[in-house]
Amino acid sequence: MQPLIDTFGRVHKDLRISVTDRCNFRCQYCMPEEGMVWLDRSEILTFDEIYRIANILVERFGLESIRLTGGEPTLRRELHVLVSRLASLGVELSMTTNGATLERHAVDLFEAGLTRINISLDTLDRQKFVELTRRDQLQQVIEGIDAAKQAGFDPVKVNVMLMKGINDTEIIDFLEFGRTSDVVIRFIEFMPLDAGEEWSQDRVVAASEIMDQVTEHYRSESLERGSSPAERFRFEPKSDVSSDLGENAQWGEFGIIASVSEPFCESCDRIRLTSDGQLRNCLFALEHLDLRALLRGGGTDEQLAKAIVEEVEAKRSGHNIGQVYFIRPSKSMSQVGG
Ligand code: GTP
Ligand code: 5AD
Ligand code: SF4
Repeated sequence: MQPLIDTFGRVHKDLRISVTDRCNFRCQYCMPEEGMVWLDRSEILTFDEIYRIANILVERFGLESIRLTGGEPTLRRELHVLVSRLASLGVELSMTTNGATLERHAVDLFEAGLTRINISLDTLDRQKFVELTRRDQLQQVIEGIDAAKQAGFDPVKVNVMLMKGINDTEIIDFLEFGRTSDVVIRFIEFMPLDAGEEWSQDRVVAASEIMDQVTEHYRSESLERGSSPAERFRFEPKSDVSSDLGENAQWGEFGIIASVSEPFCESCDRIRLTSDGQLRNCLFALEHLDLRALLRGGGTDEQLAKAIVEEVEAKRSGHNIGQVYFIRPSKSMSQVGG
């Protein structure tokens, strides 16, 4: 087995596959309300093509985990069929979704072999949800979280992307939601990947600010992190507030993904495949490898593997957000898959 290693010694073991660029939401920070130009069906990799790439990565390079992303991955027709094919590779298989359709899909996906689900939810307030996502579907997402738990996914993680002045007042509400509904809440720092180009450093709610709010209300302890982008903590209410929480007082777990204030590029073990078959060595990559052209041009496994090795070798040390020489990638989050 040959490790997929870059020039900084990082071994790549995790693949994120975007299965569609489409979405049923229009999150302000991700997509414009109208006018997104979708990929044509013929441009999107087929399940056979996705499987072929994943198989090469697992067999030759010891890939250990795959995460399905979008757009919204559950909009890809027959997603459970792809899940069961990828599950046959014996890797950990997870998905990041906005949760709105999980009521319908959670059981099928679990039975097909999906092992973990992360659900994006940025506010618990219905009005704010409508403003943020341009859809009135908070209830569907809450039901989706429930459906994922009922189906057997464990843990279920809820991703909360924080933006100053928008949802940073909900940190404690989310922690209580997490503790009482037994889901892991993860706060995410806003990154410059929004389609509207509205990102600015002063809209980022930094990990230190999140921790200030947490320690005001809770006792927390660090948990082991591994190569995950999230710093992990367990927390319980301080005794002076537990009386407000009555019988519900119990430990919960939360995480912080501090891509901007405390980048974790040094331990990055990820590569990404976009729905149109580009292999990207970083969320912020400025270039990519066109695997679809190789696949459709009759490339052999050997040729594909060689191109993949070269793409990983070309990986930069980090994303450079906040530096004068930072260059924003032309693809936004929904196109790369987060
Ligand atoms: P777990 O395996 O459950 O920890 O999932 P994850 O956090 O790796 O994936 P998820 O799709 O839930 O992503 C959560 C947030 O982390 C999103 O905002 C992603 O864009 C961000 N993220 C994931 N991978 C990377 C990465 O390689 N670099 C950066 N900067 N952010 C990432
Ligand atoms: N910065 C950080 N996270 C983002 N996400 C979407 N856009 C951004 C951004 N600009 C998150 C979503 C979802 C995950 C796939 O990426 O909230 O949880
Ligand atoms: Fe869709 Fe996720 Fe983008 Fe929101 S953040 S529009 S749910 S892809």
